Amino acid sequence: MIELINIKKGFEDREILRDVSATMESGKVNLIIGASGSGKTVMMKCMVGLMEVDSGHIAYDKKNFTEMDTHQRKELRKQIGMLFQSSALFDSMTVEQNVMFPMDMFSMGTLKEKRQRVMECLDRVNLKDAAKKLPAEISGGMKKRVGIARAIVLKPKYLFCDEPNSGLDPQTSLVIDQLIKELTHENNMTTVINTHDMNTVMESGDHIVYMYQGQKQWEGSNKDIIFSKDQQLNDFIFASEFLREAKEMRQMEIFQHKDWRDQLKK
Ligand SMILES: Nc1ncnc2c1ncn2[C@@H]1O[C@H](COP(=O)(O)OP(=O)(O)OP(=O)(O)O)[C@@H](O)[C@H]1O
Ligand SMILES: [Mg+2]
Repeated sequence: MIELINIKKGFEDREILRDVSATMESGKVNLIIGASGSGKTVMMKCMVGLMEVDSGHIAYDKKNFTEMDTHQRKELRKQIGMLFQSSALFDSMTVEQNVMFPMDMFSMGTLKEKRQRVMECLDRVNLKDAAKKLPAEISGGMKKRVGIARAIVLKPKYLFCDEPNSGLDPQTSLVIDQLIKELTHENNMTTVINTHDMNTVMESGDHIVYMYQGQKQWEGSNKDIIFSKDQQLNDFIFASEFLREAKEMRQMEIFQHKDWRDQLKK
């Protein structure tokens, strides 16, 4: 579990994160959603220590990350996997070498053990055959999968993905979402995803944090979204007439189930 407690972060005289408190739950896919510029990437960078918060603190399983010294942070980083928006692969390294990179950095195990783990991860993302290829020789969706293999190679407890579906078609996006969801549940990771993708929200959002103008506006699950009365959230999620109608239809459908009616009465 990752807790953000009264986080504030600004640049010069601009406040970007304005007193944000939220919890990223373990074993779940936690989504951070919100309009462009609402502070999602800044929040993720603060969580992994790429940026320092101005006030408040971040705790990883009750351990205060904000107050950790360099050595403690380095130890924690070994448990963090990160998938960057652009995949951020090294162009001159093969797929296999890219995935091996974090293991080399933390000098874990013998070459044989490292190779074995790399192949395990490539197999998991269905890319064993591409091990010897260079990033320039593979598609955007494959690059994301290499990025995922690299992010999980050290068996992290925490996985961060900034816009994992950017630049992908809807079907490839679903494959990536499914893969991240499966890995999260298989390995009981705390996964945090920044996303704009409404398919991801509806399919994978075990726990969703909605950011609006630097503040946490709403928090809940994809099922709660259907019944949310938060105006800002509704305007953001159900932006088109088509989606608003789909929401109403879904509400009616759910409402016909007695179990749901009973639950709503509580
Ligand atoms: N290093 C920085 N220096 C100054 N301002 C910054 C810096 N990084 C981000 N910002 C500002 O913080 C605000 C929030 O940016 P952020 O990248 O977190 O938005 P976002 O919600 O991730 O948007 P998007 O959906 O477009 O990725 C923006 O106004 C941005 O200009
Ligand atoms: Mg961003």
